[in-house]
Amino acid sequence: MRRVLGFLALVLAAVALVAILHSPPPKAEPPANFTSSEQCRSCHQQIYDEWSVSWHALSWSDPEVRALSNDFQNADCIDCHAPQPVFATGIAERVLPRTSRRGEGVDCIACHELPVGHSSGGRVAGTRTVPDAPCAPTALRDLGSSAFCASCHDQHDTTKQWRATDYAAKGIGCIDCHMKKRADGSPGRDHTMLGGHDIELVRSAVDFRGHKQGDHWLVEIENVGAGHHFPTEERARAADVFWRPLDGAEHPWKQVYRFRSPYHHEALPDTLLPAHETRTIPIPEASSSAPVEVALFYSLKPYWADPEHPDPEHEARLVKKLELRP
Ligand code: HEC
Ligand code: HEC
Ligand code: HEC
Ligand code: HEC
Ligand code: HEC
Repeated sequence: MRRVLGFLALVLAAVALVAILHSPPPKAEPPANFTSSEQCRSCHQQIYDEWSVSWHALSWSDPEVRALSNDFQNADCIDCHAPQPVFATGIAERVLPRTSRRGEGVDCIACHELPVGHSSGGRVAGTRTVPDAPCAPTALRDLGSSAFCASCHDQHDTTKQWRATDYAAKGIGCIDCHMKKRADGSPGRDHTMLGGHDIELVRSAVDFRGHKQGDHWLVEIENVGAGHHFPTEERARAADVFWRPLDGAEHPWKQVYRFRSPYHHEALPDTLLPAHETRTIPIPEASSSAPVEVALFYSLKPYWADPEHPDPEHEARLVKKLELRP
C-alpha cells in the first residue's frame, strides 16, 4: 500500500512539473510608454535580432562616426544618429536629436512610434491595422515610402538621386532593394537593411566590362543595380579602377579612375555614376597587344595610406576583376 501511494505521489509530481513547463508564458502587457526598443523585443524577437546587427542599431556606437563627430561633441551629428521619431517631426522632414536612449541609435521607436493622440488612434505605424494588438499598430503607407527614408537619407542626395531614376518612375523604392521580403517566406521584411558594408550588395550594383580600342585597353562600368548614384551617400565611400600587366611577374596595381563625391574643401570633381548610366574609362598606358588584369575596388574610407602607391588589395575590397587578352 505504502509503495502504491509513493508511486502515485511521484506520478502527481511529474504531472505537475509537465504542466508547469508547458503552461503559456504570462500574457505580455503593453508598456504605458515606449522608452526602449527592448520593450518591442519581448514580442518581436525576430525583427529585433535583424535590427540589432544592422548599421541602424550601431549608428551611435559606430567608431567611424564617433571619430568624425569628435565623440558627438559636434552636436549636429546627433540628429540622424540618435533621432526622435520620424512621425513626430514629419515624413521627409529632417529629424531632430533626442536626449534619451541614444545608445540605441536608429531604433524601433525612431521609425515606428506615432505621436500621442495621432489621428489614426494607433501607437505605432505598421503595414496592417490591428486594433487589439498591444502596441496598436496602424497601417500607414508613409512608412514604406522612400520619403520616409529621406528623413535621414538625403544629407548627401541619395533620395534626390533615386527620384531621377527609372526605378522611381516604376514605383521601385528604397525598401524593394534594402528591405527584402524574408528568405524563409515569413511575412514582412528583413530589418538588416544592408548597404555599403555588404560587398555582395555592392557587387550587384555594377556590370564591369573591358574592350580593346585601337592600341590600348578600356573598361566600362555600368550602374545596373543601384537605385541611385554608385557609390552613393557618405562622402567617405569611393570606388576605384586599377590595372596591371598580366605576364606572370609581380606588378603593383596602378590606379586609373575614382568614383567619388568629395568633401567641399577638396575641390575635386564629383564622379559618381548615376543609375542606368555607363562610364567608359580608357587605360592609355595599357597596350592592347599584351594581356592585362583590370579590377574595380570599393572603399568605405577614401584615403590611401600612401597616396603615391595605393595598395587596394589590403586597403579596399575587390568588387570585380577581369583578364583582358589580345
Ligand atoms: C541628416 C542626417 C545625418 C546627419 C545630420 C549626420 N549623418 Fe552621418 N550618416 C547618415 C546616414 C543616413 C548615413 C548612412 C549612409 C551611408 O553610410 O552612406 C550616415 C553615415 C555616416 C558615416 C559612415 C559610417 C560607417 O560606418 O562607415 C559616418 C562616419 C558619419 N555618418 C558621420 C557623421 C558625422 C561626423 C556627422 C556630423 C558632422 C553626421 N554623420 C551627421 C545621416 C546623417
Ligand atoms: C506585448 C507584446 C507587444 C509589444 C511590447 C509590442 N508589440 Fe508590436 N505587435 C504585437 C502584436 C501581437 C501584433 C500583431 C501581430 C500580428 O497580428 O501578427 C503587433 C504588431 C505590430 C506591428 C504591425 C505589424 C504589421 O504587419 O504591419 C508593428 C509595426 C509593431 N507591432 C511594432 C512594434 C514596436 C515598434 C514595438 C515597440 C515600440 C512593439 N510593436 C511592441 C505585440 C507587441
Ligand atoms: C530604419 C527604420 C526602421 C527601423 C529601425 C525599424 N523598422 Fe520596422 N519597419 C520599417 C519599415 C519601413 C517597415 C515597413 C515595410 C513595408 O512597407 O513592408 C517596417 C515593418 C515592420 C513590421 C511589420 C512586419 C514586418 O516584419 O515587416 C514590424 C512588426 C516592425 N517593423 C517592427 C519593428 C521593430 C520591433 C523594430 C526594432 C527592433 C523595428 N521595426 C525597427 C522601418 C523600420
Ligand atoms: C531616423 C533616421 C533614419 C531613417 C528614417 C532611416 N535611416 Fe538608414 N541609416 C541612418 C543612419 C544614421 C545610418 C548610418 C549608421 C552608421 O553606419 O553609423 C543609416 C544606414 C543605412 C544603410 C547603410 C548600411 C551600411 O552598410 O552602411 C542603409 C542601407 C539604410 N540606412 C537604409 C535605410 C532605408 C531603406 C530606410 C527607409 C526604410 C532608412 N535607412 C531609414 C538613419 C536612418
Ligand atoms: C534598385 C535597387 C536599389 C534601390 C531602389 C535603392 N538602392 Fe540603395 N543601394 C543599392 C545598391 C546595389 C547599393 C550598393 C552600391 C552603392 O553604394 O551605390 C546601395 C547602397 C545604398 C546605401 C549604402 C551607402 C553606403 O555608404 O554604405 C544606402 C544608404 C542606400 N543605398 C540607401 C538607399 C535609399 C535611401 C534608397 C531610396 C531613396 C535606395 N537606397 C534605393 C540598391 C538600391
